Amino acid sequence: MIFGALDESSIAWHVATQCVAEGATITLTNAPVAMRFGTIQKLGEALNAEVISADATSTEDLTSLFEKSKEVLGGPIDFVLHSIGMSLNVRKGKTYTELNHDWMHKTLDISAMSFHRMMQVLYNTDAMADGGSILSLSYIAAQRVFPDYNEMADAKALLESFARSFGYHFGVKKGVRVNTISQSPTRTTAGSGVKGFDDFFSYADNMSPLGNASAEDCAKYCAVMFSDYTKAVTMQNLYHDGGFSSMGVNPAVLSQE
Ligand SMILES: NC(=O)c1ccc[n+]([C@@H]2O[C@H](COP(=O)([O-])OP(=O)(O)OC[C@H]3O[C@@H](n4cnc5c(N)ncnc54)[C@H](O)[C@@H]3O)[C@@H](O)[C@H]2O)c1
Repeated sequence: MIFGALDESSIAWHVATQCVAEGATITLTNAPVAMRFGTIQKLGEALNAEVISADATSTEDLTSLFEKSKEVLGGPIDFVLHSIGMSLNVRKGKTYTELNHDWMHKTLDISAMSFHRMMQVLYNTDAMADGGSILSLSYIAAQRVFPDYNEMADAKALLESFARSFGYHFGVKKGVRVNTISQSPTRTTAGSGVKGFDDFFSYADNMSPLGNASAEDCAKYCAVMFSDYTKAVTMQNLYHDGGFSSMGVNPAVLSQE
């Protein structure tokens, strides 16, 4: 199951394509509004994957999504990618010290609580296969301050905590792994919505010894994390960032004007 492929730039789009190339049979899902504005149907046709609409903030939608998905796939689900993020405060240009808290509720609901909600439905309906793998995508602003990332930093901190807390329960019950991948800045609809994105994209690119990790490489890492080669990796936040998270100073950044 892949959540969050909106258009060709989406990280989830690349993950879906990579998984099918590796031989997986998948289903795709996104919010009802994304069905109208995105191009997910095109991806579904190209990958021969059923597209099922579901709002990740609705337990009812998620319950029927996983039921349908199990029917289509002919059994329990081996892997799930949660690739969802949205902040109204970021979209509307509110600064961190002037946030609208009604919108913040929505941000946390869509970008973090949806991960818990999704796992709770999977857990209670026993929809995951033994030894399965669940992933979500995070960003290093959960650990370090990136002022323009705004309230999404707090949403990501919560998201990563859910991976640890639920990872315990899922591990004990079904041997299911739960991890987050902390990805480099990537040019997508959600990514480019962050103020000053181009500046911090090139800052991170210069700071990282390997440069920014691409969406294609992120998809490959996700495929590894879904595979049986990582059966003992769980409750981790895994950096996929070209080395950015371990850097202090890079002369390549200092020498820039
Ligand atoms: N782009 C980056 O720089 C970057 C870096 C690190 C992590 N991430 C994370 O990767 C994930 C995917 O983002 P992306 O960059 O591919 O952008 P994207 O805009 O392509 O994906 C975000 C997705 O969230 C979906 N979504 C929003 N509200 C929803 C809801 N209520 N129910 C279901 N789906 C909903 C959107 O339809 C969209 O498909 C996000 O969690 C994002 O924070 C992105």
